[in-house]
Amino acid sequence: MSGLDGVVGDARVVVCCGSGGVGKTTTAAVIGIEAARRGRNVVVVTIDPARRLADALGLPDGLAGAPQRVPLAGIEAGELWAMMLDTPAMFERVVRANATDTEQADRIVDNRFYQNIAEALSGTQEYMASEALHELHADERFDLVVVDTPPSRNALDFLEAPGVLARFLDHKAFRLMMVPTRTGFRVLSVATQPILRAIGRIVGSDVLTDAVAFFQAFAGMDVGFRERAEEVTALLHDDGTKFLLVSSPQRDTVTEAAWFADQIAEQGFTVAATVVNRLHPRFGDGSVADASRRADTARDRGERELAALWDNLADLRTVAQAERRELQPLVERVGAEAIVEVPLLPSDVHDVAALTVLGEHLFAVDDPAP
Ligand SMILES: Nc1ncnc2c1ncn2[C@@H]1O[C@H](COP(=O)(O)OP(=O)(O)OP(=O)(O)O)[C@@H](O)[C@H]1O
Ligand SMILES: [Mg+2]
Repeated sequence: MSGLDGVVGDARVVVCCGSGGVGKTTTAAVIGIEAARRGRNVVVVTIDPARRLADALGLPDGLAGAPQRVPLAGIEAGELWAMMLDTPAMFERVVRANATDTEQADRIVDNRFYQNIAEALSGTQEYMASEALHELHADERFDLVVVDTPPSRNALDFLEAPGVLARFLDHKAFRLMMVPTRTGFRVLSVATQPILRAIGRIVGSDVLTDAVAFFQAFAGMDVGFRERAEEVTALLHDDGTKFLLVSSPQRDTVTEAAWFADQIAEQGFTVAATVVNRLHPRFGDGSVADASRRADTARDRGERELAALWDNLADLRTVAQAERRELQPLVERVGAEAIVEVPLLPSDVHDVAALTVLGEHLFAVDDPAP
């Protein structure tokens, strides 16, 4: 049985993480297709602004900020859905869903500080991904949510995301601004608060006035944000949530993957499997020396084309061996049995056919019926 069978079988959430460019989005798409093939109703959510998920699934029109059905020829039992996180739209949706009324929502959404918060609050993207996970997990159309995390050198960006806004709202400076709202929406006078005057001198009084208005408008909603953050954290720790670490066989990415594995473990999460993507195939069990010897023999006989082929095989085996050496620290870190190997395809992955080929490596393929 392949390491990923359990991942699509009964998981409720799969999180694909790993450093930049290793194949997280591709892996998320392969898992989505396989889960649908096994009769599950799966949604893949990507945070990748580079439209890679749409590209991998061969969707020329891209993906929207809400789940859309991806047609899969020959698959009837399950359904594949996909969406690309639109961070500002998601933020607005969360605000509107949690505001007491339209007026409160409008006050927040129209606020300039709110409009700049994407830059002001580091980790907004990851935070919104965790809000999206919360929303999709509760959506009855889906029984599996696959999260394709954004490129990051730091696994904690996503794992710590649920608490980002709650921690932000707890920050002393902002607490200070929120207090007056508890006493009946009195407009806080920046001028009368020495500490705010000091902050205002640094960040500019316009910025501060906007921020104060934002936190005033936010009053009462922070409880809901905190509750959801706790729910997402609990969901990430649930047995039904599986983390997949994706890597490729280069020294830097291997070091980063081992570092990710440590960080994930330190947070109390378990990596269900480690996918090593884009490995050069070994072409049998023969050695480099054997291929080189055969090349020499062919050359001695004047068979130049055959010699070139053996030379080529020797080169490929050299690359494959070097890759395996590079992988060794990761193998030692996660254990050989947890590693699932995926070969380098001759070209980039742009359609369901190529994803299906990768799926044959990621999952145990049933023997075709005779
Ligand atoms: N096994 C493979 N064989 C050939 N090409 C591959 C393979 N896996 C992925 N690719 C290609 O490598 C590129 C990077 O893959 P992908 O976008 O899935 O990585 P990523 O980890 O999501 O990147 P990012 O960190 O930028 O989001 C893509 O062009 C994809 O088509
Ligand atoms: Mg990606």
